[in-house]
Amino acid sequence: MAAIGIGILGSGRGSNCRAILERVRAGTLCAEARIVISDVFDSGILRIAREFGVPNAYLPPGKFRTKLEPEAELALVQMLRGAAVELVVLAGWMRVLKKPMLEAFPHRILNIHPSLLPKFPGLEAWKQALASGETVTGCTVHFVEAGVDSGAIIAQREVAILPNDTAETLHARIQIAERELYPEAISQFCE
Ligand code: GRF
Repeated sequence: MAAIGIGILGSGRGSNCRAILERVRAGTLCAEARIVISDVFDSGILRIAREFGVPNAYLPPGKFRTKLEPEAELALVQMLRGAAVELVVLAGWMRVLKKPMLEAFPHRILNIHPSLLPKFPGLEAWKQALASGETVTGCTVHFVEAGVDSGAIIAQREVAILPNDTAETLHARIQIAERELYPEAISQFCE
């Protein structure tokens, strides 16, 4: 199988990015990490990229809080193309992507969300699941499309909600499931 060139975008800690880079390094995920990009200058995800020797960049996001400034989004497309990225992997990326990215990478942008979509889209999905009284939640890898957390589903994993769970314990178990599910889902894109 030929390795697929991936670009990872994130705004935070980077635990999913670390899980993916560990699998790439171990040779158990047929992908090559070509670049890691963050909209947060001192984010954990950029430190992880450096630790793994992956090219990385800070992208100044501009004046908006939930999306990139149009010029910044065009710059992002150029950075990803310049790095020969074939598949864009969002790992804790906190800005909604718009036309420039969606048109440059149609059906080639993935995201991981901490619930069994279509249940509980949006922020802090594990808290929503806990408050709902459900006994099962989980995580979902899906395509990024124009709507938030609404693109076609690629893979899901269930996580039980335990009677004594707090938001923190439940979130921690969902994140363990995410770190297994995301590399598996990416491997579906290897040729
Ligand atoms: C993940 O839990 C994912 O569900 C959400 O953002 C979080 C990022 O965590 N989209 P990390 O930066 O990968 O640790």
